[in-house]
Amino acid sequence: MSEAETITRPRLPFDRIGGREPIARMVDRFYDLMDSEADYAELRAMHADDLSPMRESLTDFLVAWMGGPRDWFEKRPGACIMSAHRKLPDMNMEVAKQWVLAMKQAAEETVPDDREFTDNMVSAMASMSKSMAANAGGDDSH
Ligand code: HEM
Repeated sequence: MSEAETITRPRLPFDRIGGREPIARMVDRFYDLMDSEADYAELRAMHADDLSPMRESLTDFLVAWMGGPRDWFEKRPGACIMSAHRKLPDMNMEVAKQWVLAMKQAAEETVPDDREFTDNMVSAMASMSKSMAANAGGDDSH
């Protein structure tokens, strides 16, 4: 490597989105949409009546997933988000689609100035959701 070249660490998604606060705002919008739009009724029905614990939990998870503080993982040693979801009783491609559409809308509304970022994030979430649904029934393989 020449002296002119410098090694720069890639910017973390957590920093690019602006930290925890914008993530929490996106998650709140996601659950508000899930709670109010008929298009997401099946997805809503899978969740507990009170969505407030999920607002906290999904925010904590996404903070860690994007490279921020890892409290979600530290509080749940060995937890695997993929296998936990594959075991959900009503997991299927339709609810996976609803999850991704609700998150896409929430992200586009709450992170409006960075379409490249939201497209990449939603695309990664869509791959996870598809895998959760394709292997529904408790298969622990990744
Ligand atoms: C296939 C689409 C998905 C469906 C149908 C789905 C559904 C659910 C349901 C029903 C719960 C439990 C809710 C409750 O107890 O009230 C849950 C929890 C959770 N989901 Fe999903 N989910 C999906 C995709 C995802 C994705 C892609 C992520 C991460 C990027 C995610 C992250 C979480 C987290 C962090 C929790 C809470 C787990 C905990 O903290 O113990 N989900 N999900």
